[in-house]
Amino acid sequence: MTEKKTVFVTGGAGFIGLHVVPMLLERDWKVRIFDNMVRGDRDKANELANEFDVDVVDQDVRSGAAVAAAMKGSSRVVHLAADSINKSVADTYSSIDINMVGSHNVFASAAEQGIERVVYASSASVYGDPQKLPMNEDDELNPLTPYCIGKRTGEDLLGYYQRKSGLSWIALRFFNVYGPGQKTTAYYTSVINHFVNRLRTGQPPVIDGKGEQSMDFIHVHDIARAVTLAVEAEQANMAINVGTGISTSVAQLAHILIDAIGADVEPIFNPRDVLVSRRAADITRAKEVLGFEYSIPVEQGMSDLIRYEAAVAAA
Ligand SMILES: NC(=O)c1ccc[n+]([C@@H]2O[C@H](COP(=O)([O-])OP(=O)(O)OC[C@H]3O[C@@H](n4cnc5c(N)ncnc54)[C@H](O)[C@@H]3O)[C@@H](O)[C@H]2O)c1
Repeated sequence: MTEKKTVFVTGGAGFIGLHVVPMLLERDWKVRIFDNMVRGDRDKANELANEFDVDVVDQDVRSGAAVAAAMKGSSRVVHLAADSINKSVADTYSSIDINMVGSHNVFASAAEQGIERVVYASSASVYGDPQKLPMNEDDELNPLTPYCIGKRTGEDLLGYYQRKSGLSWIALRFFNVYGPGQKTTAYYTSVINHFVNRLRTGQPPVIDGKGEQSMDFIHVHDIARAVTLAVEAEQANMAINVGTGISTSVAQLAHILIDAIGADVEPIFNPRDVLVSRRAADITRAKEVLGFEYSIPVEQGMSDLIRYEAAVAAA
C-alpha cells in the first residue's frame, strides 16, 4: 500500500475550506488544516480531526516560521486563508499583512520545500469592473481595493516562484460563491441573505434601481470540486476562472428566492441610480485544463440553501 500524501490547507476551517477538506479526504489525501480560527469553525475542524486523517494547526499565516514548520512533510498546498474584502478597506494594514505577506510566506515555504502544487484562492475581483462579458483570464486586470490588489499580487508572486524555483501553481479566480456555512456578512453574496431574511418574515425583497446588476453565482460544492481538480491537474502555472458562465441579475435572484421559499410576494423596486456592474465567467479554460464544469444550477443551489437553513434553524 502506498502511503497517503498530505495537502496543507490554509484557511481550511473557513466556509470554502470545510467543503474542500472532506472532498480531499474522499480522494485519499491526508489533510493538515492551518487556520488561526478568526473566522474558522474550530469545532467542525476538530470533528474532522477526530474522525479522519486530518491535523489542525492553530497558527497565523503572518508568521513565516509557523507556516514553514507546519508545512513540513506536505506534498501539496491549498491556500485559502485571507482577510475579507470588507475588512480590506476598513483596515488596509491588516489586509496587506494577511493577504500579501501571509500569501508570500505560504508560497516561499512551498517553493523552498519542493511542494508539488500550490492551489491559490484568487478572486474574480482582480478584473475590477469588466469591460465586457464573459470575463476571460487574459482580460486586463484592474483590482480596485487592497483585497483585490492582494489577490493579484498573490498570482504574480506565484509566477515569480515558478520562474525562480520551478513551483507549480494554479490560481483559481472564484466568482460569487454561495452555499451552506457561509457567513451572513459575505460581501458580494450578502444580497441573498438580505432577501431571504425579508421573505422569511413575509416581506417582499427590496431592489435598488432596476435590479440589473448581476453576479455569477457558483455553489461552494462546485468550488470545492474545482479546488480538488486543481490539486491533481496535470497542467498548471496559470489563472483559471471558476464560475458557471451565467450572469444572474439581482431581479432574477429575487424571483429565484421567492420561488425557492414559496412566498406569495413580488419584489419592490426602489427607483435609484445604481452603478450597474455585471459578472459572468468565461469558463472555457476551466473545462479544458481541469475538466471542470459546474454541476449545481443557481435555482437548485438556492432552494437547497433555503432547505438547509430551515433545517439548521429547526435543530
Ligand atoms: N466566498 C467567496 O465568495 C470568495 C470569492 C472569491 C475568493 N474567495 C477566497 O476564497 C478563500 C476562502 O474564502 P471563504 O469564503 O472560505 O472565507 P472564510 O473567511 O470563511 O475563510 C477564511 C479562513 O481563513 C482563516 N484565516 C484568516 N486569516 C488568517 C490568518 N492570518 N492566518 C491563518 N488563517 C487565517 C479564517 O479563520 C477562515 O477560517 C479566501 O482566500 C477568499 O478571499 C472567496
